[in-house]
Amino acid sequence: MSQTVELMNEEIAQRLITAAKSVGLDISGGTVRRSSSRFCLGVEHGDYNGMELFGVGTNRFIWMAYKPNTTGRVRIFSENFPGDGLVDFALGEEAPAGTHKDSWARFPMGAAYILRKNGYPINQGFDAVVYGNIPGGGMSRSASLCLNLLLTLLEVNDVSIDDGMQIVDLAQMVENQYIGSPCGKLDQLMIYFAREGMGAHYNPKTNTIEHIPFGGDAEDFRIVSLDTGTKRPGLEKSTYRIRRDECRELTKILEREFGHESIARIRSKSEFAAAVEHLQEDFEHLQGRLKYLFEANQRFGEMLNAWREGDIAQVGAIFRADGIGLRDDYEISGRELETMCNLARTVEGVYGERMLGGGDKGASGAIVRTDAFSQLKEVVNATYPVCHPDYADSFAIHACKSVDGIRSAPAPF
Ligand code: GLA
Repeated sequence: MSQTVELMNEEIAQRLITAAKSVGLDISGGTVRRSSSRFCLGVEHGDYNGMELFGVGTNRFIWMAYKPNTTGRVRIFSENFPGDGLVDFALGEEAPAGTHKDSWARFPMGAAYILRKNGYPINQGFDAVVYGNIPGGGMSRSASLCLNLLLTLLEVNDVSIDDGMQIVDLAQMVENQYIGSPCGKLDQLMIYFAREGMGAHYNPKTNTIEHIPFGGDAEDFRIVSLDTGTKRPGLEKSTYRIRRDECRELTKILEREFGHESIARIRSKSEFAAAVEHLQEDFEHLQGRLKYLFEANQRFGEMLNAWREGDIAQVGAIFRADGIGLRDDYEISGRELETMCNLARTVEGVYGERMLGGGDKGASGAIVRTDAFSQLKEVVNATYPVCHPDYADSFAIHACKSVDGIRSAPAPF
């Protein structure tokens, strides 16, 4: 029971109880699974370019309270999307991919569809309510939801998958094959493997994760999410898809001309210079993409060392440099995201700031000395709504801490 108390506070519990009542679901005595958000410290946009990745789980969450039923159906309601009503479908009769474009129903259906498609015996249904407070765009709300749904479906069906990488792959499949999002697997990796007080380092060569504790006092800094209040349509409709296509094109050129199998393989300044020169003639638009990825990849090792040594100012400085590259060379940021960064940069004690995740809209992030957080909040609260009055009621600032990615426990109701 003490574990349960940690998983959610009274307010969240009440939200779930009220939501369940509103659609006549009985989830009392069930289980709660809590899945986190994630904060990537590098290489942002490196996942679909064969690069190493590093990040932490953060305490904006999705909570799902659920209980097996006897109907072979999934009946699930989201407190965040009440207009979508109770999502109710028989296992094995999920709508084909692309059907429920405007409803969050596509996520539970997609999770069941992908599991069954991959041969898992998923027949036992459940009733559930969901509530989340992860900002949309930048902190991996959809990956968190997919993992939560997959793990729940597997658990109620007594199917155990020991290899976490397989779960990560399944979660990515839900997005790529069912939702239609062209995402990589950074989000799923960073959430599934997140551990409190640690960063997760993913090595694509070995397909493994190493947990690295922060070498200093974690109380000295805060990870801050600067939610712009904007809504980003799915990655499939954003600049993200264009960048992915460009990187595919770039990879082909590098392979053909230089024999590099991925952008990540360009490690030396001379290789980089040769590639840039080659792109000059016909592929000038790809030069900036390559520049950001190369430079961020160069900084990555330094960032890991700084983390290991507890040098958060240096982690922040690299985070900031990555942000400038994402803005000017990779050109994936957005107006509101950059307003947040410009404001953060004026505050003494902010070590670094940049846009987060897929790009265009959503949330920026900052790494901040603990005692500078209230000043950052004041500056953003006073100025952001003046710059973007349309989002005056929806922007938000959250100081986050690093947490376990996935936890579950008996429901406290
Ligand atoms: C989104 C995608 C991830 C990753 C990031 C950028 O969050 O879902 O796969 O590419 O953008 O690092």
